[in-house]
Amino acid sequence: MIDDIKKLKGFMPHHEGLALLKWSETFSKYGPIIEIGTYCGKSSAYLAYGAIKNNQVVYTIDHHSGSEEHQINEEYFDEEVYDESNKRIDTFPIFKMNMEKLGIENVIPVVAKSELVSRSWQADAGLIFIDGGHSMESALNDYHGWKNKICSDGALVIHDIFDDPKDGGQAPNTIYKKALAEGFELYERIDTTVCLTKV
Ligand SMILES: C[S@@+](CC[C@H](N)C(=O)[O-])C[C@H]1O[C@@H](n2cnc3c(N)ncnc32)[C@H](O)[C@@H]1O
Repeated sequence: MIDDIKKLKGFMPHHEGLALLKWSETFSKYGPIIEIGTYCGKSSAYLAYGAIKNNQVVYTIDHHSGSEEHQINEEYFDEEVYDESNKRIDTFPIFKMNMEKLGIENVIPVVAKSELVSRSWQADAGLIFIDGGHSMESALNDYHGWKNKICSDGALVIHDIFDDPKDGGQAPNTIYKKALAEGFELYERIDTTVCLTKV
């Protein structure tokens, strides 16, 4: 079953996904999981498998219109997620199909902009996973919007941390450094994914 997640369309390498699953199991003891950046649900599936062990849910937030790099003529454009009739990226149909295919029922999609949802979000999370827009503005919005919505024993997880700018964009790394400077502590790192706890 877990191997089936590997085949889903998305941006989460399996070894980092397995870390998400483990952290989700650990931190969903304290509250639900919130994910920023669903795309087609690959990371959501790893998180869901961990959360189900504590009978918990994963709220996954995405406007499903893709980030800058997913748009037509950009590096990660994928015509399979392009809705020709509406002339826009729409990853929601494949997300929905993937959850159904894997029989996952504990993922609750919130189809909206992250900044809009964070403004009115009330329930603190056991774990917040940030993998939304990778522009500096988006990453900072996600960090500021969500960092105070983690319960006291909970965790903040950030994807796509590249120490060397030659390997990738620096926005996720910037919010990682900010979190460390603001009292979060590294709990574990698996390749480009970091898991932080609040001290
Ligand atoms: C890198 S992808 C997420 C990859 C996914 N976690 C996976 O495992 O494949 C980033 C996603 O963030 C979404 N996104 C970008 N900016 C957003 C925003 N301001 N609010 C909500 N979603 C956003 C995009 O639509 C895109 O699907």
